[in-house]
Amino acid sequence: MSKIILSGVKPTGRPHIGNYFGAMKQFVDLQNKLASGDHNFIMIADYHGLNFIHDQATMRENTLNLAIDYLAIGIDPVKSTIFKQSDVSAHTELGWIFNTITTMPYLMRAHAFKDAEAKNKEISVGAFDYPMLMAADILLYNTDIVPVGQDQKQHVEYARDTALKFNHIFKTETFKLPDVLTIEGVAVVPGTDGQKMSKSYGNTIGLFATREEITKAVMGIVTDSGSDVPKNVYAMHRLLKSEAELAPLYEANKGKYKALKDALVEDIDAFIKPMRERREELARDIDKVHAVLAEGAIKARAQADMKLAEVKKVIGVL
Ligand code: TYM
Repeated sequence: MSKIILSGVKPTGRPHIGNYFGAMKQFVDLQNKLASGDHNFIMIADYHGLNFIHDQATMRENTLNLAIDYLAIGIDPVKSTIFKQSDVSAHTELGWIFNTITTMPYLMRAHAFKDAEAKNKEISVGAFDYPMLMAADILLYNTDIVPVGQDQKQHVEYARDTALKFNHIFKTETFKLPDVLTIEGVAVVPGTDGQKMSKSYGNTIGLFATREEITKAVMGIVTDSGSDVPKNVYAMHRLLKSEAELAPLYEANKGKYKALKDALVEDIDAFIKPMRERREELARDIDKVHAVLAEGAIKARAQADMKLAEVKKVIGVL
């Protein structure tokens, strides 16, 4: 049976190594294991990003940057479909259809909404309704697998619930139930302060950071004095090396936080450098990046429009 994979990232800033290990790396690993008939859809979730960015230059720049990032980490536009959410209007259309079968209390149970409310943030209708647009993103493609970090798990459950609810209400089997894929050990990548790495906490290490930026971030990692192994340094190190590989280093440098941080800078830089260089090269040919997105839009639209037509028949507007 062929398998369909879909995931996405919001173009709300530069991706960090939390995005990479938690999700983006899986996009590439899964792509490289595709069998014939399988599909890998990788989306730039710009309409989701619009909840956070209301500046046209920033939106354009972030979107293009994310397309370059995808290519730089190894997403191959021949094997995968890279596309912009806003290029496929079926997403917002299906999102609307889902709104009509969804209740407010159900959306009020979303972690993202509860967090925003707890922080007394003014929440836009778009942000409140985020899970319905995300359900449309996923369900339009008959997706089987959604590779994401832990924080997106609930959103995939919303997509499953919505598929079930739609199928039940309209007595149909229109939507397939997607499964979430999170990888143990990286589902929540910690930031420099030990909390979840997140753009909004200012505790990130950029996925394409320069050596100077890596050094600055690593030297800022919060260390708990008194223990032999600085927990937050070690947690980050484990993203790059196995326990067995790290054991001699940490054994030889018990309590020597500076030496351990230096080693971590070295390892992060060695890991990022090839991607950073590839990215610099890709950024020199922007026309090619635009062409990838244009082609991705055509491929994504073909699938999404077909599914939307099916839905329209089921609900009786077509
Ligand atoms: P976004 O843009 O916030 O994050 C992109 C991906 O990175 C993961 N992630 C992390 N994983 C582990 N540790 C961390 N510290 C960490 N921080 C971020 C996220 O879990 C995510 O997988 N709603 C989505 C984008 C989206 C989407 C979709 C994803 C829109 N439509 C459809 C899948 C399918 C989001 O805001 O991700």
